[in-house]
Amino acid sequence: MKRIAASLTAAVLTVAAALPMMTGSTRMEYAVTGSTLNSLGSYLLGDGSLEYGKGDINRDGSIDCFDLVLGRKYVTEYSDKVPEGMWVGTGDNGVRLFWFSGGAGYIFGASAAQVTDFTASVTDSRFTLTTGGTSAMADIVWNSADSFSLHWDDYGLEAFSPAGAQLMPSAELTGEYITSGDTGQRSWKFSGYTGSCDGRGFFWLPEEGGIKLCWCGSTEYGDIEHIALARTDRHHFTLTYEDGRRESFTRREITTVDGITYVNGILIANKTYALPSTYNPGGLTSETLAAFNEMKAAAYAEKGLSLTVCSGFRSYSYQATLYNNYVARDGKAKADTYSARPGHSEHQTGLAADINYAGDWFNTTPEAAWLAANCWKYGFIIRYPQGKQDITGYKYESWHVRYLGRELAKMVYDSGLTLEEYLGIDSSYKY
Ligand code: DAL
Ligand code: ZN
Repeated sequence: MKRIAASLTAAVLTVAAALPMMTGSTRMEYAVTGSTLNSLGSYLLGDGSLEYGKGDINRDGSIDCFDLVLGRKYVTEYSDKVPEGMWVGTGDNGVRLFWFSGGAGYIFGASAAQVTDFTASVTDSRFTLTTGGTSAMADIVWNSADSFSLHWDDYGLEAFSPAGAQLMPSAELTGEYITSGDTGQRSWKFSGYTGSCDGRGFFWLPEEGGIKLCWCGSTEYGDIEHIALARTDRHHFTLTYEDGRRESFTRREITTVDGITYVNGILIANKTYALPSTYNPGGLTSETLAAFNEMKAAAYAEKGLSLTVCSGFRSYSYQATLYNNYVARDGKAKADTYSARPGHSEHQTGLAADINYAGDWFNTTPEAAWLAANCWKYGFIIRYPQGKQDITGYKYESWHVRYLGRELAKMVYDSGLTLEEYLGIDSSYKY
């Protein structure tokens, strides 16, 4: 992890150094306040004079009632407005990043020591920033909803624009993700410009070609990382860290439609997510069947292997019969390691099939080896791989394949993860 790039380091001052003090004035513009309007009103009525330059609010070269109208609008809408969200400030302080949230926030400097929390308030266009018991004041001048400047009493001008909104609004990343890659599997949450990774908090900002991440905890802040970001679609993006490590992000969106659970649009039936007893696609879906037939033809053409479906679609009631029989034979605890309770079987989805023989004997056959190496090409995955019982909830089933479509099956296969890991979900009975 490298410190912030030299170019930006040079431009960013520490917060301590940047804190304006409350003496003197080097104002270049002025805030429009109630008293500005009073003076302007009196002046227009021929009853008083104006401080030089303070009257042409719309900057059209003359001081008239249009200035009064605009000034009034300004005072109504902006004179007590505290900024919200991420802003980049540029001026005599160099470049600073401010995050405002409900009258409090953070100023980001270049590193751990340069992140400071503050409270902020605005009354009649006077901005007060308090940090560590010290307050600094400025006139706040809004030029538009997307631009304001602070005219520090003793610090000069600092002009603000929204941080990187042109590059990427925070809503684009907001969501929960499960990742894989050089960092191992992690669980991320992006929410606005903040988030957490495996419980560790961060702030992030968009920047050209990537994002800037600032790790933070309850008492300390980490380095700022500059990370290249590549998006593939709304569910996926990749971060490439400065040291070359890559982390692939998959958004996890769980939706329930008519009692059926979809994770990122993928129908899920496992120990956590059950199907309604009435769910019945009437057999293997036509897509699943077509993909199986293609796979069957390829296995035969390549190796002379013959694949058949020995158990495809199973209704809720049929699964109930099967499961109850296994419980009667082996007891509930053991049955739960290899047979799904009714409603929890993937066979009820019409997207899963047992190939040739559903039993350990199949594990060492050439058909099982071929399936494991090739089924992804036809849109299937081996759903309950060896050694993943704690994750999938079931012991190894070399014969049980789940249809995901070619694109997703390849991604899951390439990831080396189970479907639960790939989607960031669990599989365990809650009853
Ligand atoms: N054998 C699998 C887990 C099922 O019963 O659906
Ligand atoms: Zn099965």
